Amino acid sequence: MADPKETNEKYNVKRFRSVGKENPDYGQARDWLRAVGFGFHDEQRSDELIDKILAMYQADNRELTGVYVNEEPPLHALNPGFPVATFGTLENKLNVGFGEELRTRQITAVTVRGTHRRHGILRGMMTADLADAKDGGFAMAALTASEASIYGRFGFGVATFERSIKVDTGPKFRIRHEPVGRVEIADPRVLLDLAPEVFEQVHHRTPGSIVRQDSYRHHVSGR
Ligand SMILES: CC(C)(COP(=O)(O)OP(=O)(O)OC[C@H]1O[C@@H](n2cnc3c(N)ncnc32)[C@H](O)[C@@H]1OP(=O)(O)O)[C@@H](O)C(=O)NCCC(=O)NCCS
Repeated sequence: MADPKETNEKYNVKRFRSVGKENPDYGQARDWLRAVGFGFHDEQRSDELIDKILAMYQADNRELTGVYVNEEPPLHALNPGFPVATFGTLENKLNVGFGEELRTRQITAVTVRGTHRRHGILRGMMTADLADAKDGGFAMAALTASEASIYGRFGFGVATFERSIKVDTGPKFRIRHEPVGRVEIADPRVLLDLAPEVFEQVHHRTPGSIVRQDSYRHHVSGR
């Protein structure tokens, strides 16, 4: 059902890329992002923030899937230009060790509007997308789940665990190598360029590391 190649009487599925204000398809991308906010019951974002996010999506080359209702909505209901379900994807590399990186389909912004839940829309979007990823030669799909219990049925599993440790930095604590460089305070804005450089080094040394979406550097730099 949620395969863009297939439309049925009730729904119409569209897949498109994020675009900037100058593009005639801007409204479609903007309303898709607003629909993600409805799905997560988030506060509505300002126009300025929406434009920033769409620019980051362009940097990620994300594909945005929206499911739209065909029928005329009842009086006072949201405009049908807002999709009732959203599904975002991007491609990044996963370090699988031994110097190898695997193209990975990353999935994000999975929402179905409250009024349309439990009718199989998520299942339709996920099934179509994973089939598409397989056809595109992907062996791996990954997501971070707000609600973990949803995704096992689609073949996803736990990738990592979090551990906490306490380090006693008393007199017995010593670093066993000569420190190099020095510590200074920098303006967080330098992280816009510096954070990806540091990440790049860590990524190549760390099996299990997956390349980050563009928004991370904007967050850490305070942008
Ligand atoms: C989670 C969400 C996308 C599900 O969409 P949906 O269209 O109602 O899901 P479907 O009807 O296609 O259900 C697919 C399967 O998931 C199960 N499922 C749906 N919502 C679930 C939930 N919250 N917890 C556990 N299982 C759930 C269904 O029972 C169904 O199982 P089955 O096919 O094995 O019988 C939707 O509830 C939503 O948008 N929630 C708010 C945003 C959110 O949490 N997104 C996920 C972020 S990780």
